Amino acid sequence: MRLLVTGGAGYIGSVTTAVLLAAGHEVTVLDDLSTGHADAVPPGARFVQASITDASSTLATGFDGVVHFAAKSLVGESASSPELYWHNNVLGSLALLDAMRALAVPRIVFSSTAATYGEPPDMPITEATPVRPTSPYGASKLAVDMMLSSYAKAYGLAAVSLRYFNVAGSYEGFGERHRTETHLVPNALLAADGGPPLQIFGRDYPTPDGTAIRDYIHVRDLADAHVRALSCAVPANHAIFNLGTGTGTSVLEIINTVARVTGREVATLDRPRRAGDPARLVADGRLAHRELGWRPSRTVSEMVSDAWEFHQGRAGTSDSRCPH
Ligand code: UFG
Repeated sequence: MRLLVTGGAGYIGSVTTAVLLAAGHEVTVLDDLSTGHADAVPPGARFVQASITDASSTLATGFDGVVHFAAKSLVGESASSPELYWHNNVLGSLALLDAMRALAVPRIVFSSTAATYGEPPDMPITEATPVRPTSPYGASKLAVDMMLSSYAKAYGLAAVSLRYFNVAGSYEGFGERHRTETHLVPNALLAADGGPPLQIFGRDYPTPDGTAIRDYIHVRDLADAHVRALSCAVPANHAIFNLGTGTGTSVLEIINTVARVTGREVATLDRPRRAGDPARLVADGRLAHRELGWRPSRTVSEMVSDAWEFHQGRAGTSDSRCPH
């Protein structure tokens, strides 16, 4: 297929672009580089530096589909500067969808999130779990999911939303390079590499070791779900799938894995809970297995070890966060 990948210079977008290229698709990356990196666009993809609000002229050259990653994605920032999320994620996606409609681009796979569910009391989280986002980030992604449902129904769009749980790992030199890093695995690797101690946000959760539990999924497995979703998208239908492994891992278990994989100590600092962090979030991924034939296969150790390899490869580069 001839595909436009928005946000293809970011973490998950660059890995998915690499996987789409390897699967034989022709890919154009559209990214405004507000948070992405030009050198993260995989060789073999065409690159257009532009905002999703200006996708028309690129889309006019003829595309079979769009894989839409471009978004603001920091939960904390979305609470302090919500306008960034409503403008970029919601209005930006609306402009993209309208350009697709005008140019008759038939399908879209959208990067949605577990944050659409908020803090549900019952685990694991299925696609039928009520959506009650607790952050403007989650709300903005939910708004786009709702947009997709209405455009599928009204205009025959083939749409798939993939709701990611906690993504980690790297693939063939493409990995996590956020300028503001809030995620557990890269922060723990940085601490193992002599960076600032890892802050453990909360040791008083009602979990076996007192730290919060998440469902970690390898970015390579996640990318594979996008490839499958593109070929499974059905005209006039909006499908939603949770992407997780169904297994919970605590913050302390991640720290122990990082220590084992790197062979180094991870210095830590106990901190209070981060506002809005639920105790436990675990996906029920059976629908994606049934409908897409997708099943994640990579372990937390593989995620950490691939992320460590990527981290070491970037040490000393201009965007390295290592202090030495
Ligand atoms: N954590 C720490 N120290 C850190 C970073 C994180 O203890 O330096 C803890 C968090 O408190 C949380 C867990 O590690 O318990 C995972 O935190 P992340 O920031 O890595 O991920 P989140 O679960 O907060 O966020 C992820 C996605 C978001 C998405 C959210 C949905 O990254 O995009 O899940 O709940 F919105």
